[in-house]
Amino acid sequence: MVIFKEAAALKNKIAESRKQGKTIGFVPTMGALHKGHVSLITAAEEKCDLTVCSIFVNPTQFNDTKDFERYPTTIDNDILLLENNGCDILFLPAVAEIYPAGAKPAVHYDLGEIEYILEGKYRPGHFQGVCQVVNILLNIVNPGYLFMGEKDYQQCLVIKRLVHLISSGAEVVTVGTVREETGLAMSSRNLRLSDEQKRNAAGIFKMLLYIKSNFASLPLQDIEHYATDYLLTNGFHKTDYVSIADADTLQLVSNGESAKRMVALVAAFIGEVRLIDNMLLTR
Ligand code: PAJ
Repeated sequence: MVIFKEAAALKNKIAESRKQGKTIGFVPTMGALHKGHVSLITAAEEKCDLTVCSIFVNPTQFNDTKDFERYPTTIDNDILLLENNGCDILFLPAVAEIYPAGAKPAVHYDLGEIEYILEGKYRPGHFQGVCQVVNILLNIVNPGYLFMGEKDYQQCLVIKRLVHLISSGAEVVTVGTVREETGLAMSSRNLRLSDEQKRNAAGIFKMLLYIKSNFASLPLQDIEHYATDYLLTNGFHKTDYVSIADADTLQLVSNGESAKRMVALVAAFIGEVRLIDNMLLTR
């Protein structure tokens, strides 16, 4: 695996590969890599000739500075993991390489209603920051395929919208959520959980399964209330939302509409660690 810290050198290398007719797969990450990230690398490796991964903890998508400062970094381990899983190129830029003119966003991406609901409501500005960095990364890597994890369900929808807005030639490929044996969705933030907190954190998965088994037969609001109470009495300190939404628009659904394709989405805190997860209710 070759590591690039400078965008210009990386662009040249990728242009060379493209000239040779190679397809480029891109996996953007913020590092502290785990098996969830690896599944994206594997998907890229299987579909494309050249797999490019970026590790960049993007300051502009953190609405909470403490969350940014505490974001875990495990770079030596990340490099090993990428090397052992078929990644060809790692892009590891410094902040000044991505934002040479400063990180203040120059444009506002028109993401529609999806920017302001669920994650967008509780993390104002988050998706603008995500779009800002992914736009810059796409301009550098210019991949044929962009691999994104369904673990961040709303982010997948946002990135599909971004790719359309900026007329990127990249096709977004979504990859299913990788979980611990307990059902806990793998996440870099899990590194900040104690063993007991990790055991409790698996409660989110139990709740999602409960919702999946009951959404067709019980009133949706009752299900959401029960799920919230369960989390709050089983080690979670706060929930931002437990919601059942239209899987395409993320608009909340009411009972009469329960035949639609739906997704259950959860954001909840264990101590100061905020975890998100989701489950499709119909496929
Ligand atoms: P990060 O949280 O590092 O996630 C990088 C990619 O890995 C995202 O597409 C995410 O959905 C996926 N991922 C994380 N956990 C996963 C799991 N358990 N199973 C499958 N995929 C998983 O998401 C970001 O970084 C950033 O917002 C980024 C897109 C890189 C922009 O800065």
